[in-house]
Amino acid sequence: MISFCNVVKIYNSGTRAITALDDISFAVEPGEFISLVGKSGSGKTTLIKLLVGEEKPTQGEVFFQDLRVSSASPSLLQQIRKKIGVVYQDYRLLLNKTVQENLSYIMEVIGVPKETIDNDIPQVLSIVGLDQRADNFPHELSGGEKQRLAIARALIHRPQAIVADEPTGNLDLYNTYEIISLLQKINNLGTTVMLSTHNKEIVDALKRRVITLEEGKIISDEKIGKFIL
Ligand SMILES: Nc1ncnc2c1ncn2[C@@H]1O[C@H](COP(=O)(O)OP(=O)(O)OP(=O)(O)O)[C@@H](O)[C@H]1O
Ligand SMILES: [Mg+2]
Repeated sequence: MISFCNVVKIYNSGTRAITALDDISFAVEPGEFISLVGKSGSGKTTLIKLLVGEEKPTQGEVFFQDLRVSSASPSLLQQIRKKIGVVYQDYRLLLNKTVQENLSYIMEVIGVPKETIDNDIPQVLSIVGLDQRADNFPHELSGGEKQRLAIARALIHRPQAIVADEPTGNLDLYNTYEIISLLQKINNLGTTVMLSTHNKEIVDALKRRVITLEEGKIISDEKIGKFIL
């Protein structure tokens, strides 16, 4: 479903060239729950940006299903981004819109019919447990609730995969547990999940596949992985 083939990413900033990813190859099957771990600067966010086409590889290819993300046109990228929901550590919500509007807005901009919007939003809010908060603004939500709204937004186009970059980085233990449980539930409903995290307890408790990055290289890829750093 996802494949990286000999991917190299070099950032040129000023006179310095930084190799963020160095010959990365791996494949993810539909339905997997895969954790991506590694120290700060090891390349986790870069890998996710390449997967959703926010950055282009310097060398190599990235595929999502049979679509070549690494050389996708803007219109193909738009299609790919409907198939992959992305969740960030800092939520990235629209602060002057309610929970409901944060979701309806992104459907309206791509021309989803009103009946579909009215039908789908309550369903997604119920999956993430925010059905009672539809009319609240982000500043009225807890950190965990904000992240659940961000996950609802990532789910709204019924994606085949969810990619979450340190989604629990700003959360306490209880909310971390809630978010990870929600990602497991989404995975059990059939959606592939890729999670980048610094959290050893999460990775060890999941008992699912773990890819460990170090200085832009994959140093381990285990079916039932453990946090090894
Ligand atoms: N836009 C950029 N321009 C230049 N260098 C960058 C850019 N983005 C990332 N880098 C560098 O690429 C390397 C990998 O960064 P990346 O953000 O992918 O790491 P990370 O594993 O997500 O780290 P963290 O755990 O801190 O989020 C780092 O050395 C970083 O400084
Ligand atoms: Mg990062």
